[in-house]
Amino acid sequence: MMLKGKKIVVVGGSSGIGLSTAELATCEGAEVIIASRNAERLNAAAGTIGAKAIAADVTSDKSIEDLFGACGPVDHVVVTAAQLKTGPFKTVAMEDVRATMEGKLWGAWRVARFADIRPGGSLTLVSGYLSIRPRPNSAIISVANGALESLTRALALELAPVRVNCVSPGIIDTPIRAAMPEAARREMLAKTAAGLPVGRVGVGEDIARQIFAFMTIGFATGSIVYLDGGGLVT
Ligand SMILES: NC(=O)c1ccc[n+]([C@@H]2O[C@H](COP(=O)([O-])OP(=O)(O)OC[C@H]3O[C@@H](n4cnc5c(N)ncnc54)[C@H](OP(=O)(O)O)[C@@H]3O)[C@@H](O)[C@H]2O)c1
Repeated sequence: MMLKGKKIVVVGGSSGIGLSTAELATCEGAEVIIASRNAERLNAAAGTIGAKAIAADVTSDKSIEDLFGACGPVDHVVVTAAQLKTGPFKTVAMEDVRATMEGKLWGAWRVARFADIRPGGSLTLVSGYLSIRPRPNSAIISVANGALESLTRALALELAPVRVNCVSPGIIDTPIRAAMPEAARREMLAKTAAGLPVGRVGVGEDIARQIFAFMTIGFATGSIVYLDGGGLVT
């Protein structure tokens, strides 16, 4: 019970990596608040793991200000929220490019500004492998992830004694690819798994355990951990 007595907010906590993190934190004794947009999905997830739910949208200053106004001082904050819209660099709509930055980068920025984190507590951001292993048709995600990693280092200085860290996941099997046709999704995951030294893609709990480490290791700040089943060395 390493988080007993701690209050934790997971923004993006209704699904995937955020939900796994919230679940691990409740198992470790924390009082957990999860936040995301779709209230129905949020309440269902909160009920499953015994967390509190507060609907919030990271693209809105007011929404995030209200969220942390309602939470009060907290010990650890995690941001996994992202809405990613991408496409070929020359033709992707600027509106989609801006929406990606608005959610993933400015969303984390807003959370960092409005959260009242107790000294020695932590903020964990989630970037992604595209910051250092870019792929065609996703330049804006590379940019957002790279910027989040820079923001992590800057905030580790400016927000101290609050600690600020970032985990960069490889391919993780979460609902983030729910819009893909199921057969194509499975094929992509199987192909990725076969190419990795660990022989599998990640699950939400893999990343949640790293986030838990950031919360509980008081020496961790300004750290960026690439957790990708060996993707970087293949
Ligand atoms: N899964 C991977 O393979 C992978 C790889 C690299 C990086 N990542 C990164 O890891 C993070 C988490 O991904 P995931 O796979 O866990 O995704 P996920 O399962 O789709 O979960 C995303 C969560 O964010 C919430 N969210 C989205 N837009 C939001 C907004 N504007 N305001 C508030 N909440 C919002 C969603 O709920 P609502 O839609 O209801 O708001 C949901 O709870 C993302 O930053 C993603 O880019 C994932």
